[in-house]
Amino acid sequence: MQENLPKYTVEVRPPKLGKPPIWAKYGLYISVCASWIPLAIIVRARYSRSPDPRPQLAQDMGTMPKYKEQQSSDVFIDGRADRLPIPGTVARGEAQEDDHYYRGYETEIDPQTGLRQPKQKIDPKTGKGETIFYDTFPQQVKVNAALVARGQNRFNIYCTPCHGYDGSGHGMVNERGLELSGLTDPDAQKPEATWVQAADLRSETVRNRPVGHIYNTINVGIRNMPAHGPQIPVADRWAIVSYVRSLQLSQNGTVAMVPENERGKIKAAPVTQPSTEPAKTTSEK
Ligand code: HEC
Repeated sequence: MQENLPKYTVEVRPPKLGKPPIWAKYGLYISVCASWIPLAIIVRARYSRSPDPRPQLAQDMGTMPKYKEQQSSDVFIDGRADRLPIPGTVARGEAQEDDHYYRGYETEIDPQTGLRQPKQKIDPKTGKGETIFYDTFPQQVKVNAALVARGQNRFNIYCTPCHGYDGSGHGMVNERGLELSGLTDPDAQKPEATWVQAADLRSETVRNRPVGHIYNTINVGIRNMPAHGPQIPVADRWAIVSYVRSLQLSQNGTVAMVPENERGKIKAAPVTQPSTEPAKTTSEK
């Protein structure tokens, strides 16, 4: 069978390739070993710490020299990287010059010190200076149902723990305060216990307060009540004021305030009396 096959398919060819040269052999070993070096560097980089930023191919301003909050810095004498605003400077749009909207009372510049201070009017009876609070809502504030609804929402979050949902001053904090001090039970009363109840917002005193006064109370607090300015934005403070006013109205309304054609509905509704009884307190400060 072999005789029939063409000659060149069976004849043993002489080998064309010789042995690889010695340098190629060792070169291959070296390059295989060298290919592990980048891997070793990466592994080392992942598990070691360094004060230098990591190498980054695309810079993208990812590693700018910068200070983060609360860091220290040798550049400034006080060693702080955080800088306070320079005294006397005001950020753009933060001047808050509108007394009516931002403060609720009138201010003036003291000619001697050059500082802004509350304007005073002398009470003719007592001869004492009094701050002049605005008794109207500022023009930026549109008093409508939406504002009062927003005010109710914010009031229920921020004010009810102390003042209660009806504004009577019987919020949960008050009830618990009375309980802890034993003021509700004369037998358990602790001699040193005092408790200042949150004011009844429907009382005559608060009803006679100008809206600017109530705004200021929310903003900076009053006597034993803490300030709420830091947590409630200006617009919401005014919304709450509008709701406080509507709370007062709703519980001190007279039939004369109701339009004639609506009066029949009131008489038909069951009468519920709000509790106006003040909680007992040992000290009235
Ligand atoms: C931590 C409890 C607490 C919270 C919360 C609180 N108040 Fe008061 N508030 C008081 C106390 C206590 C007084 C009475 C202060 C005093 O007489 O020393 C008071 C008094 C007042 C007065 C009467 C001040 C006056 O004499 O004219 C008004 C108005 C008032 N609060 C409104 C608010 C509004 C609005 C909120 C919600 C933004 C609020 N309060 C949240 C505790 C609180």
